Amino acid sequence: KGVITLDSGFKNTGSCESAITFLDGEKGILRYRGYSIEELAEKADFLEVAYLLIFGELPTIEQLEKFHSDIKKHSFVDDDVKKILDAFPKAAHPMGVLASLTSALTAFNPSCVNVDSVEDMYNAIVRILGKFPILVAWTMRKKNGLPLYYGDDSLGYVENILKMMFKQPNQDKYVQNPILVNALDKLLILHADHEQNCSTSTVRIVGSSHAGLFASLSAGISALWGPLHGGANQAVLEMLEAIKADGGDTAKYMEKAKDKNDPFRLMGFGHRVYKNFDPRAKIIKKAADEVLSDLGIEDPILDIAKGLEKQALEDSYFVDRKLYPNVDFYSGIIYRGMGIPTDMFTVMFALGRLPGWIAQWREMRMRKEPIGRPRQLYIGETERKFVTIEKR
Ligand code: CMC
Repeated sequence: KGVITLDSGFKNTGSCESAITFLDGEKGILRYRGYSIEELAEKADFLEVAYLLIFGELPTIEQLEKFHSDIKKHSFVDDDVKKILDAFPKAAHPMGVLASLTSALTAFNPSCVNVDSVEDMYNAIVRILGKFPILVAWTMRKKNGLPLYYGDDSLGYVENILKMMFKQPNQDKYVQNPILVNALDKLLILHADHEQNCSTSTVRIVGSSHAGLFASLSAGISALWGPLHGGANQAVLEMLEAIKADGGDTAKYMEKAKDKNDPFRLMGFGHRVYKNFDPRAKIIKKAADEVLSDLGIEDPILDIAKGLEKQALEDSYFVDRKLYPNVDFYSGIIYRGMGIPTDMFTVMFALGRLPGWIAQWREMRMRKEPIGRPRQLYIGETERKFVTIEKR
């Protein structure tokens, strides 16, 4: 008590106790509620994983059906939200649009603002799980100049998301592509939680003031947007494109990344916690190969990415600092193969992270955690006398 320890970036500060996600950065292990990420990505679907993260156990068939049916009851947004969406310029960054619309939902769902009981929380949770994919899909449809579409209740959660994103006007029969469904399911599962990262910590700290769930999520989306966090997936693809346009000279970019006078960093490399392979990156790299080959796409960007990875893993700068590819290094290549625009990549990350943010917010409220309020070490002026403006 009374002694304030400085820990910039909270590198060694635990902000909470949590039973949701286990991460061993030295060994490259990631588990949700005790289940390995490898097994979940292979055997579970996204909605099951969402249930697992939020409520702590894998659902039975009945529990999952009820959860999905409760979500479907809220798979609409108020018509006035369309007007807000309409007011954004077409070129607006989708993450800004998504954060704003998520916050705006608070105004249309007042029952989700002051939530205290487990029932109130459940009500807010199923609402946002129903409405958020619509905001995501509409953000992309607006960008692509497509009319808004509400989705198809008869479909699975992820199938419906894809249809909401891609259904063309005048398309009588939308045919699901199982390759895209599986790829998106896997990507969303891999992004679903990652303990106390920047956006999750934001959700927990905003929520700790008892601001509503949607407001806390909106803050999390804004935190995720930055290129050092979720925005890295967009930055990776832009970097790979720039390397390709520059003749594909990966060695030149490796040198830039190592040059301390150059602000350039190898995007999609390095992690605060993983000092070994990011287990998500391993799965995504394999999936990128499979999805592109299943879709019959040959993307030269994938070769550039693999070339960069190979060089980095053999380079003492990266080896000494234990910098490995992270989750964002290969994910954009899959999203691109699926036909998702580059500036929508971080929105897709937000869609995947939604259950994790919700689970962490719920845990924080259930455990009645106190308001988050870090201290500081003051390094400013000591007491000074006020000088009137004429005398300065
Ligand atoms: N390229 C070149 N050098 C790097 C990189 C990189 N991508 N990442 C870290 N370094 C160097 C850094 O310059 C520092 O070197 P030195 O010790 O000589 O000063 C050393 O490695 C340690 O880096 P740091 O910045 O102190 O580490 P951090 O834990 O504060 O930052 C990071 C972690 C992820 C922000 C950082 O590695 C980075 O900027 N990576 C690129 C952006 C990125 O891919 N972000 C996605 C992260 S994973 C998904 C997510 O969070 O959403």
